Amino acid sequence: MAENKLKIMCIVGARPNFMKMAPIMSEIARRSDKLEAVLVHTGQHYDELMSDAFFADLEIPRPDVNLAVGSGSHAEQTAKIMLAFEPVVLNHRPDWLIVVGDVNSTMACTLVCSKLGIKVAHVEAGLRSFDRNMPEEINRLVTDVLVDLLLTPSRDADTNLLREGISPEKIKFVGNVMIDTLYKYLPRARHSKILNTLAVTPFNYGVVTLHRPSNVDDKKVFQGILEALGVISERLPIIFPIHPRSRERIKQFKLDKKMASYNVKLIDPLGYLDFLQLYSNSRLVLTDSGGVQEETTVLGIPCLTLRENTERPITIKQGTNRLLGTTRKKIEQEALSILNQPIGEPRRLEFWDGYAAERIIDAIVSA
Ligand code: UD1
Ligand code: UDP
Repeated sequence: MAENKLKIMCIVGARPNFMKMAPIMSEIARRSDKLEAVLVHTGQHYDELMSDAFFADLEIPRPDVNLAVGSGSHAEQTAKIMLAFEPVVLNHRPDWLIVVGDVNSTMACTLVCSKLGIKVAHVEAGLRSFDRNMPEEINRLVTDVLVDLLLTPSRDADTNLLREGISPEKIKFVGNVMIDTLYKYLPRARHSKILNTLAVTPFNYGVVTLHRPSNVDDKKVFQGILEALGVISERLPIIFPIHPRSRERIKQFKLDKKMASYNVKLIDPLGYLDFLQLYSNSRLVLTDSGGVQEETTVLGIPCLTLRENTERPITIKQGTNRLLGTTRKKIEQEALSILNQPIGEPRRLEFWDGYAAERIIDAIVSA
């Protein structure tokens, strides 16, 4: 009977949430005799290519509720989500809330439910960049201090949480749920025609993604990175599916002409399957994305992270990922030296095995 089912409300809002929530939704559906999901989309990301495309590619059911909050300053966006979300929670009265990652939607929905006395599970708990200039670090700290169940992707995350005084009974190492999605959809991604469409051949091009405010909102920093890409692209053509924030900055900083002179193809953000096919066949990835650091690690694709720090040190330990900062010369040198090295091998990491969603739901059911 429906009333006896455990009601789990799941939150998505921004692009990196969809590939984390997809396997969780599918695991709840697999146990539909005992569990019931309510999917809430905050609307933090709303462009077709930043949101809807992932529902199609990853077979995520349509959200039961869309809060349609859209963009805004941090305070504005967080407050809008909280205001719109509270009545939804009061209406549905879930037994559990699941939030993933570190975006504003993650923190805002956690705040609402913890004040209403509804239990919250955080998937990807415990990651720390130790850099509070990053909005995501604030979101991680606030979320992790409030939630009832901290589901970690790697052992270093457990260590961080214990150091912060979180009680060990609340922490459960479940592995990386994003990698469930990667393994599930890799065979399907192989049918993508994106390489033909972009006229590139395997391992003869590089892929770039950039969207961190620290990299793209400061003209000098962004321009320096783009100039480095220009130099690299003389040896290796580059495909750059560009995030809307960064697209806006290129226009605002009048960098379009400069970009057009490089062998760098700026394209719209790609859907999950096309992007997977693209980066998994690339010679090199340059990024400031959290998720892309992990995905390239599993596939053994060399990744240069254009940041001073990372909340995902395990990717550095594996040797696939290198932290470079944003100095132009350093980016050029490292990228060009990788081109002289052999192509990497896929990696197997503990509990990055395709079964994290199962462990997540087991942990919630038995909490
Ligand atoms: C957000 C997350 C970041 C995550 C990233 C993934 C926070 C604080 N930041 O950053 O952690 O890595 O998503 O992609 O939660 N925009 C559009 N269309 C959209 C979405 C955004 O045009 O569908 C533009 C708007 O101009 C907006 C800007 O991008 O102001 C930034 O969007 P926002 O969600 O505030 O932050 P992101 O940079 O996307
Ligand atoms: N991604 C995608 N299309 C793109 C760029 C990224 O599907 O054009 C995927 C990527 O493979 C990963 C996720 O989006 O699964 C990462 O999201 P993003 O970089 O926006 O956020 P972050 O991980 O930095 O929070």
